[in-house]
Amino acid sequence: MSASTVDRRPGKPFLMGRGLVKTYGADRALAGVDLNIRTGEVLAIVGPSGSGKTTLLHVLAGILRPDEGEVTLDGHRIDQLGEAKRSALRRHEFGFIFQQGLLVGELTAAENTALPLLLAGADRTQALAGAREWLGRLGLGGLENRLPGQLSGGQAQRVAIARALAHRPKVIFADEPTGSLDTRTAAETTQALFAAAADTEAAVVIVTHDRELAAKAARIVEIRDGMIVGGVMIG
Ligand SMILES: Nc1ncnc2c1ncn2[C@@H]1O[C@H](COP(=O)(O)OP(=O)(O)O)[C@@H](O)[C@H]1O
Ligand SMILES: [Mg+2]
Repeated sequence: MSASTVDRRPGKPFLMGRGLVKTYGADRALAGVDLNIRTGEVLAIVGPSGSGKTTLLHVLAGILRPDEGEVTLDGHRIDQLGEAKRSALRRHEFGFIFQQGLLVGELTAAENTALPLLLAGADRTQALAGAREWLGRLGLGGLENRLPGQLSGGQAQRVAIARALAHRPKVIFADEPTGSLDTRTAAETTQALFAAAADTEAAVVIVTHDRELAAKAARIVEIRDGMIVGGVMIG
């Protein structure tokens, strides 16, 4: 199938996991998971600590290869690709937000945000202009030249959101992105993420153990002992 014939109507499954199994020694982190991600949707993955949430996110995002099962993006297997191809795919198609921002301490907010654009080959001046625009959209106008150490936790996570979205990925993977924030800042930061993702029509797959935040997603799946035990459609 050529790129121009790929069906991208809203709501169509485009990233699909089938029969995913991942084992660490005697530990079955994933015990046979089927999960589809639809274009532009916000999907929350909830479950207790150690249930396999991070492993599932990493397998869907091509960071980890499953022992069994397959992951397809627009109908093409990605789990069988070698590390270099998966790495390029992640850079171009996906954005990531982790619990602790993982901003580069020596770079300003604008430079951190511009990194994915620079890695994708953008011109430096253009990348920085794009980064400033994203920071403005996330309410960080005026903080572009701050280093991460000069930002609050909530501000730093907004930089991480801007960085994840700046290259307009198809999917944002967020692993407990507000886990180190207070409740109110966590709610505001999640709202900012969902709104910014909606602007770019990126799908969001967010891992959280915060039920209130999960309830703001359009769809929730619950995972226990490496298996999906429940799914809820909201709205
Ligand atoms: N790199 C690893 N090496 C060994 N065991 C791991 C590794 N990563 C995860 N696990 C195990 O797999 C299970 C699922 O872990 P994880 O996906 O991190 O769960 P969650 O994100 O829901 O807390 C846990 O039992 C964990 O100890
Ligand atoms: Mg985890």
